[in-house]
Amino acid sequence: MDVIVVPDADRAGIVAAEVVADELAAAGRRRDEDGSRPVLGVATGSSPLDAYRHVAELARLGRVDLAGVSAFALDEYIGLPADHPESYHEVVDRTVRVPLGLPPDAVHVPDTGTSDHDAAAAAYDRAIADAGGIDVQILGIGANGHIGFNEPGTPLDSRTHVVELAERTRSDNARFFGSIDDVPTLAITQGLGTIGDSLCAVLIATGVAKAEAIAAMVAGPVDPRCPASSLQLHGRVTVVLDDAAASRLDAGRVRRG
Ligand code: GLP
Repeated sequence: MDVIVVPDADRAGIVAAEVVADELAAAGRRRDEDGSRPVLGVATGSSPLDAYRHVAELARLGRVDLAGVSAFALDEYIGLPADHPESYHEVVDRTVRVPLGLPPDAVHVPDTGTSDHDAAAAAYDRAIADAGGIDVQILGIGANGHIGFNEPGTPLDSRTHVVELAERTRSDNARFFGSIDDVPTLAITQGLGTIGDSLCAVLIATGVAKAEAIAAMVAGPVDPRCPASSLQLHGRVTVVLDDAAASRLDAGRVRRG
């Protein structure tokens, strides 16, 4: 893993966006050969929001061409109507699709509106494969080490699946809802194996609440108890941290950005 540490969240957004733009541009050149267009994997949560804004700015400056780019969300709650303001369908629309200027049909979110959630999860994995796989996967991390909604204990080779959310995840996400009782208990998430299939990944984390999970992800064993540690098996991951999120890492494992 290439671990870049910057002073604050603003700078993390800029550095992450530059990596994403460069990787998307490289994917565009690769895909020109077969006439397809790059595929972006997108995370919800607060951590990537600045990066999305800066990617949009870099596109305006001509550093990356977003025309024809499609996006796949990592996950979606089960039990919220698609038009609920906190459904990831709506969150991705607001925070990714609109700023990046992507058309509605270019953005995909797991369909949790059907009765057969397992079939919807399998269909989502197939849709990613049909798009030629994810070129650039943007990630945040939960304080318990989850990525997407892959909670501790998730098999490292899992595909898109139904998950029961950990209490820690529900309480962390309660800030987006009226109370923890309003946070769904289930979700569909890309699996760790699905995320591992992306050609490159860019993970952003800021704040001391993430420091322990980051240390386990970077320096701990590859272990389902820290789902993000599966990224050690991924060949091309850039991690962008502020000083607080990096505070439990040895200086020798990181570089300043
Ligand atoms: C949710 C999402 C994750 C995200 C995590 C961290 O649980 N499913 O994809 O990484 O929140 O969110 P934040 O960046 O707001 O800390």
